[in-house]
Amino acid sequence: MAKFIEPVRGMNDILPEAAGRWQRLERVTREVLEGYGYREIRLPVVEKTELFKRSIGDATDIVEKEMYTFLDRSEESLTLRPEATAGMVRAGLSNGLLYNQVQRLWCAGPMFRHERPQKGRYRQFHQIDVEAFGLAGPDIDAELILMSARLWKRLGLKDVRLQINSLGTPESRAAYREKLVAYLEGHRDKLDEDSKRRLVSNPLRVLDSKEQGMQAVIAGSPSLLDHLDAESQRHLEGLKRLLDDAGLAYTVNPRLVRGLDYYTRTVFEWITTRLGAQDAVCSGGRYDGLVEHLGGKPTPGIGFAMGMERLVALMEEEGVPAPQNGPHIYMVRVGEAAERAAFKLAERLRDALPELRIQMDCSGGGFGNQLKRADKSGAELALVLGEDEVAAGCVALKPLRGGEQEQLTWDALPARLKGLAG
Ligand code: HAM
Repeated sequence: MAKFIEPVRGMNDILPEAAGRWQRLERVTREVLEGYGYREIRLPVVEKTELFKRSIGDATDIVEKEMYTFLDRSEESLTLRPEATAGMVRAGLSNGLLYNQVQRLWCAGPMFRHERPQKGRYRQFHQIDVEAFGLAGPDIDAELILMSARLWKRLGLKDVRLQINSLGTPESRAAYREKLVAYLEGHRDKLDEDSKRRLVSNPLRVLDSKEQGMQAVIAGSPSLLDHLDAESQRHLEGLKRLLDDAGLAYTVNPRLVRGLDYYTRTVFEWITTRLGAQDAVCSGGRYDGLVEHLGGKPTPGIGFAMGMERLVALMEEEGVPAPQNGPHIYMVRVGEAAERAAFKLAERLRDALPELRIQMDCSGGGFGNQLKRADKSGAELALVLGEDEVAAGCVALKPLRGGEQEQLTWDALPARLKGLAG
């Protein structure tokens, strides 16, 4: 026998048992986002490599070592998207959606990063990505954060905490960067190899190190918040005021720096304690320079992305019930005349009650075997047709979770089954 082909490491199948939670996440997200006026956009999974290099930044982990980049048959360098923001801006520019306009957009789909796979970290994963363009004030920052908080509430998630920070403007960050580099140089002997490398390429990312031995050095480093320019300071205060007004709890974490280069001012992350090391379920921030950097007119932007695998895992951890997506009704039929009658009846019921999920037994065998499968399917009811029922022009309705069997005419069925789908 031929050996079956293994899946690609870090790329998972989402099985039918898990699909109910995914669908619930997608349905609730769509309702909440559309309720705030965000519109769906669907984008290609592949973009020109240059787009990600220019937006995410050459010195980031993503661009340095995680992208799935390949030459296509015309020798063009293309990349499977590692995130959605760059593609959103590209699509906004390609389609003339950004200049002098306000856009509230969202998209969902797979992203690809060649990271070391572990629980909550995969090479193909899914994000719901939300972006707002053309709005510069802290009010839109607050709207996005409040909208994400509402999502957790609607999904029944409790163990999520909000952290916010401001990265200031490129100028204020450059001044801070100098101070940070001087400080870290002074503690060179205590830096691990990764941090020594980052000290040259991307020193702010040293603050993001999870290395235990680095924590004391990080705790003693100068704070980004002490180096904010006045306008960024006001922006942060404005955001805090709106979050306070809404009664939303948050922590200001001056070491929250994020792993992508395009951010300016507000950055934020929703963290959980329930998923181990991969604790961020939703992250984002403002990127006021990105549209211009990618060739557009100066246009402010801010957004976030949620990791769907992590949210589904958190729903499971927190015991959010998985929606039942098995059949409501299981059709049992024995004999040729009953087979023809059962198909006719099932189609009639689907016409009359389109919301019902009706499953036909197509595996054969006697009543006993079919009823066993009916029970296993999770259905509430079996509709049973044998020679007697066909001759009498009726059908037996058998409750599978307790209750008395009934005989009904076909005409009486729709009224009896109404409401079964909840
Ligand atoms: P990010 O922090 O790289 O930001 O990813 C956002 C979220 O995607 C993370 O909080 C996490 O939940 C999930 N995620 C990231 N990598 C993986 C992985 N390997 N496996 C599973 N889940 C993962 C961005 O992607 C930005 N584009 C967010 C943004 C939108 N900023 C502004 N607008």
